[in-house]
Amino acid sequence: MKKNILITGGAGFIGSHVVRLFVTKYLSYNIINLDALTYAGNLENLKDIDHCSNYFFEKVNILEADKLKQVFEKHQITDVIHLAAESHVDRSILSPLDFVYTNVIGTVNLLNTAKEFWKDDFSKHLFYHVSTDEVYGALGNTGFFTETTPYHPNSPYSASKASSDHFVRAYAETYHLQTVISNCSNNYGPYHFPEKLIPLFINNIINKKPLPVYGDGLYTRDWLFVKDHATAIDTVFHNGKINDTYNIGGFNEWKNIDLVKLLCKLMDEKLGRNEGESEQLITYVKDRPGHDRRYAIDATKINKELGWKPSVTFEEGLAQTIDWYLENTEWLNNVTSGAYEKYYDNMYANRG
Ligand code: NAD
Ligand code: TYD
Repeated sequence: MKKNILITGGAGFIGSHVVRLFVTKYLSYNIINLDALTYAGNLENLKDIDHCSNYFFEKVNILEADKLKQVFEKHQITDVIHLAAESHVDRSILSPLDFVYTNVIGTVNLLNTAKEFWKDDFSKHLFYHVSTDEVYGALGNTGFFTETTPYHPNSPYSASKASSDHFVRAYAETYHLQTVISNCSNNYGPYHFPEKLIPLFINNIINKKPLPVYGDGLYTRDWLFVKDHATAIDTVFHNGKINDTYNIGGFNEWKNIDLVKLLCKLMDEKLGRNEGESEQLITYVKDRPGHDRRYAIDATKINKELGWKPSVTFEEGLAQTIDWYLENTEWLNNVTSGAYEKYYDNMYANRG
């Protein structure tokens, strides 16, 4: 069937990989990228595919309900893959309301628009909501998040994502909108904005700046290469069970300090620096408030039911990521100029 798929947040990190995958893989689909182009959105992320005849861009904020309606009508939207969000935990601690507006109210706006536009026959349409494992809260030393783990968000970011997940479920139950939700672990890879751990530390290592490790550095995250998240989204979009939910992850847990040391080692090799040179940049700083100790995803369901699994090992993905940043210094310099410096100084000033 001919599809006109609205991908929100397509100019961001994960969204740009999803847009690229769908535009190049499904030539019979029209892909409409809707993005407000906040600090995290960058059309440079898509310049290799923006000439494609099945790709369209709409600069719209999901808080603008009337504009959403216009986009649905103009492009006769058949399906939504919703990624637009405020996505950084540290920013959510500074400005929680921004997260409520975009992640909660923006999602409800989008749900309302889809519900109204598709009301004649919900069975032909899908609203796919992309979410995070952070809604489940923190794990102790053992165990995994499964699809039935109770929600227990601890940061304003995860609380806003949990709320948006609940609204999506509620719209399925109440109005019979066809929905699907996936909750993914931490992503890494090309086009990742350098406010998150891996790209921030790559950038700081390049520039020989301190590497600010929060608290004792023993916090654990489960890392997935972004292109594997995009293929998982493709799989869930096409084959996921309606009104179901899927956890996505790579069974790839790392304590922050071990990951940072590996990054330092790989970067020293790539940059021709002396062994151990970048590790000297590691600086333990004040912890993040409400810092979740450990995330780990049980991705058995998506593997067993839909046959999806990651395509690269962490070592391969990390090497590809470092190479990408070293080859794309212009992209890195562009996104770290201007407002970024103010953000950085503000975020790290009192962690000392
Ligand atoms: P990102 O911050 O890189 O990109 C977000 C995009 O949304 C940007 O292009 C931004 O311009 C756009 N946007 C923000 N507010 C908007 C608004 N009001 N209207 C329209 N567009 C707006 O985020 P990301 O890391 O690519 O994450 C994408 C989605 O995946 C988010 O929903 C996030 O919660 C989820 N997720 C992220 C991760 C991760 O590790 N990054 C893991 C699991 C789930
Ligand atoms: P981050 O990339 O912000 O993702 P999230 O908080 O959504 O998991 O952080 C990953 C981990 O790295 C998290 O435990 C916080 C830690 N961290 C630091 O130690 N220093 C930093 O400068 C940043 C940004 C994160």
